[in-house]
Amino acid sequence: MDVFEVVEARKSIRSYQDTPIPREKIERILEAGRLAPSAVNREPWHFIAVTDKEKRKALSKGLYAKFVAHAPLVIVVCGNKKASADWYAIDAALALENMVLTAVGEGFGTCCVGSFNESDVKELLKVPDDYEALVMLTVGYPKEKLDLSNKLLRLVRTRKLLSEVASEEEFGKPFLPKNAVDP
Ligand SMILES: Cc1cc2nc3c(=O)[nH]c(=O)nc-3n(C[C@H](O)[C@H](O)[C@H](O)COP(=O)(O)O)c2cc1C
Repeated sequence: MDVFEVVEARKSIRSYQDTPIPREKIERILEAGRLAPSAVNREPWHFIAVTDKEKRKALSKGLYAKFVAHAPLVIVVCGNKKASADWYAIDAALALENMVLTAVGEGFGTCCVGSFNESDVKELLKVPDDYEALVMLTVGYPKEKLDLSNKLLRLVRTRKLLSEVASEEEFGKPFLPKNAVDP
């Protein structure tokens, strides 16, 4: 798959097979985060790969995070505000998406998760004060058959039209796709 095919194929997957992820695959996903661009090359991030069952359970306390307990891998993306006050969140988001696309390209399902109590997560994973726990990323082999909730989500999933979210030359002059009909 080329990069755009991976971008198109990606969707949030919240149901996973109970199969552990080989260590080299975890390393490759983390490496994709490490290689992300960052303002002034500050690399104001830290990624915590969590596979321990009890820890994954503890990370799944959030209202919209129940599936986290059943993901074989959870990557907690932390950002260091002190290291890059203006850009740490954007830099961390770029690293996150690098990891998402690499994982999808490797055949995994992923879901970003923001439903967690930050101080609980920091305490559980011994995150230093300088860092914020920004977002979690679940990774696992998709459990296609039982993934009913996700199928329903797909049915109602919408995206704004390109012309609504993109302008040409100045804000508000819609960028019109060639066929003027968004896919
Ligand atoms: C920063 C961020 C936080 C998210 N938090 C959650 C979450 O806590 N629980 C969840 O089920 N999905 C979460 N999502 C997934 C979004 O709901 C999902 O990306 C969106 O509905 C679009 O669907 P798609 O990813 O299948 O295209 C989060 C996504 C992002 C980018």
